[in-house]
Amino acid sequence: MAEAIPDLRGVPKARAYSELQAHSETILDGIADPIAAMSTIAALIHHAFGHLWTGFYRVVEPGALLRVGPYQGSLGCLEITFGRGVCGTAAAEMKTVIVPDVEKFPGHITCDARSRSEIVVPVRDSQGDLIAVLDVDSEQLDAFNDDDQRGLERLVSRFATIMQ
Ligand code: SME
Repeated sequence: MAEAIPDLRGVPKARAYSELQAHSETILDGIADPIAAMSTIAALIHHAFGHLWTGFYRVVEPGALLRVGPYQGSLGCLEITFGRGVCGTAAAEMKTVIVPDVEKFPGHITCDARSRSEIVVPVRDSQGDLIAVLDVDSEQLDAFNDDDQRGLERLVSRFATIMQ
């Protein structure tokens, strides 16, 4: 039987992310397939915290274009150019972007009008090259902080070990 996803809503974030990290490592032990890993990590984060949208945009043209990958939630936009929106900004600058209020982020791309805040984390391979970004959207304003940044960056650091 598949592992159950823990409900981590209301659990202090640092503890919630260590639990999720342990879960992810157990489930993905021995799995080097990036799509299997992206799907599993997106499902874990999404359901553990009850987010609005959680998923990956993959680099399909380095430095130029992201295309949607495994995700959970309502329909995501299919393609995003580097430099556009929160995802494209995180990709172009290769750094995590936290947006407490999407209405105050110039160029924010609305895929679901219920989204109020967002965090986007770069995903790198073993060479440090960008292979994707992880995007998490919330219906709550100001839903993400440094604990989310640390926890999500650690979860996606797995790709540096499975992608050459
Ligand atoms: N809001 C993102 C687009 C992706 S969706 O929210 C799933 C952005 O501005 O890049």
